[in-house]
Amino acid sequence: MYRTHNCGELRIANINENITLSGWVKKIRNLGGMTFIDLRDRFGVTQLVFNMETHPEMCEQARNLGREFVITVKGIVTERSNKNKNVATGDIEIIVEELSLLNKSKLPPFTIENKTDGGEELRMKYRYLDLRRDVVREGLILRHKMAKEIRNFLDSKDFIEAETPVLIKSTPEGARDFIVPSRLNTGEFYALPQSPQVFKQLFMIAGFDRYYQLVKCFRDEDFRKDRQPEFTQIDCELSFIEQDDILNIFEGMVKHLFKTIKKIDLDNFKVLSYDDAINMYGTDKPDLRFDMKISNMNNIVKGLGFKVFDDSEYIGGICAKSCAKYSRKQLDKLTKFVRQEQIGAKGLVYVKCNEDGSYKSSVDKLYSQDELKKWAEKLNANSGDLLLLLSGDKRHTLNALSELRLEMASRLELLDNNKYSALWVVDFPLLDWDEENKRFHAMHHPFTSPKKEDLALLNSSPEKVKANAYDLVINGTEIGGGSIRIHDKELQHKMFKLLGFTEEEAESQFGFLMNAFTYGAPPHGGIAFGFDRLVALFNGSDSIRDVIAFPKNNSGRDIMINSPSTVDNEQLKNLNLKIN
Ligand code: AMO
Repeated sequence: MYRTHNCGELRIANINENITLSGWVKKIRNLGGMTFIDLRDRFGVTQLVFNMETHPEMCEQARNLGREFVITVKGIVTERSNKNKNVATGDIEIIVEELSLLNKSKLPPFTIENKTDGGEELRMKYRYLDLRRDVVREGLILRHKMAKEIRNFLDSKDFIEAETPVLIKSTPEGARDFIVPSRLNTGEFYALPQSPQVFKQLFMIAGFDRYYQLVKCFRDEDFRKDRQPEFTQIDCELSFIEQDDILNIFEGMVKHLFKTIKKIDLDNFKVLSYDDAINMYGTDKPDLRFDMKISNMNNIVKGLGFKVFDDSEYIGGICAKSCAKYSRKQLDKLTKFVRQEQIGAKGLVYVKCNEDGSYKSSVDKLYSQDELKKWAEKLNANSGDLLLLLSGDKRHTLNALSELRLEMASRLELLDNNKYSALWVVDFPLLDWDEENKRFHAMHHPFTSPKKEDLALLNSSPEKVKANAYDLVINGTEIGGGSIRIHDKELQHKMFKLLGFTEEEAESQFGFLMNAFTYGAPPHGGIAFGFDRLVALFNGSDSIRDVIAFPKNNSGRDIMINSPSTVDNEQLKNLNLKIN
């Protein structure tokens, strides 16, 4: 028998019991007459004691074990004289009477402790050792608990969990597809799903009413901390439903998770229109843990002779509380920050609202004290605050201001990881104009329905049409997104046309869906959450990699199994593929 208990289980109540434990040697301390071993398994750590006087041979054997050796011990639970309050089993220890070695271990390439000396690449190469670390394992246990609570919640709301295929054809979610060659159909390819979007809609046409799935999705896009080429969605779809019902149900799901997992009662989610989010925060995923709204300064700063502002389409500003004391050096750093390529601002105008009521700005020669006072009023600034203004074309300037807002929040330590601010962003535009290719893209995806009241605009000014689409944003991260769908063949047809599909393309790619719409498609809509992002948020992780068991690195590689990799010529031949 390997064990009567696990390594996290024994307490004072177990004193004098004969027990058997198995696990990994975490640490060995040799104190002459006694040798102590911390034995670890998934459940915790228990201290073992080997006594040189009573069991000299076994004690010698224990001293010669190495870190990560796998052992089984039999012994008696005793009360510790020196209790360790930081460990759940810290009141007891095991006086060992029998020791067996189950397996040796090479010396691990990094220490298996929460604070490890292993760099990211090394830990990924030996991910199975990394997963032995408490912090990593706890992230995955959290993931399991969250999945379970999600299933409980959705089950209680009559959702059916159903699977959809992985070998499919392209689903237009805006990224590139991963493609898989078909051996039996020479020259043809499957695509891996970017999401199960069309299948979940087909479930609605099939009358399933409420579907969900914790499902792997695949997107060949560039790496970011909150993106992986394969990731998991909580994918949901409902029939006979309107936008408000969906927001209600899923606000309930997220609140349920916070309540059951984190014991937090989340406030009701704020709701912001896309236009308001962009105008007030410069982004459609604002972090509302702090305020610092952006103000349009055009009316106040233009027309007074400062050419940079006069020639700009848009001038926006924010107020950084208590930052008037910023030094030249700090302001230069901020200017450098906004000028970096990813942010793309040309320069930064600042105004210090001095404690004595005067103003000191980078444009002192161009604006009077009275004029600067108006800026301060517009930005609700008090003395001691710092105003920061950017200018240029509206889209880029708002984007740069949103980055500057986050940078200032980080400097002012306003990004509290234990605070959660959730909001729905609604009323997204249906379409997004692609200037480079002179065509529209679907802002969400092509199956999203336009708002009824905007249908008439579809022909005349499609760029003005708003969609029944919504995103859930928590602490500045897009956690989920969805929409009410088109369920009418003609409208879907029109949508494909607007997106530049020819009749034939639309028919060959989505004929099956439009055909299905003609067999009694109910009104329906849904949402998908990024499960990895949600777990990372709950775990306080910066990157979703921390909560994925076997993630890919920055270049989309799994460096442990060395994938992607080349394949045999024989395999290529079977697939009728050639590599140049
Ligand atoms: P969308 O494309 O917005 O919608 O995706 C839904 C959510 O999935 C997460 N997500 C990702 N997470 C990790 N890595 C990625 N590469 C990645 N891409 C997306 C985000 C996002 O909010 N079918 C629609 C949903 C619907 O309309 O019901 C869809 O996939 O958190």
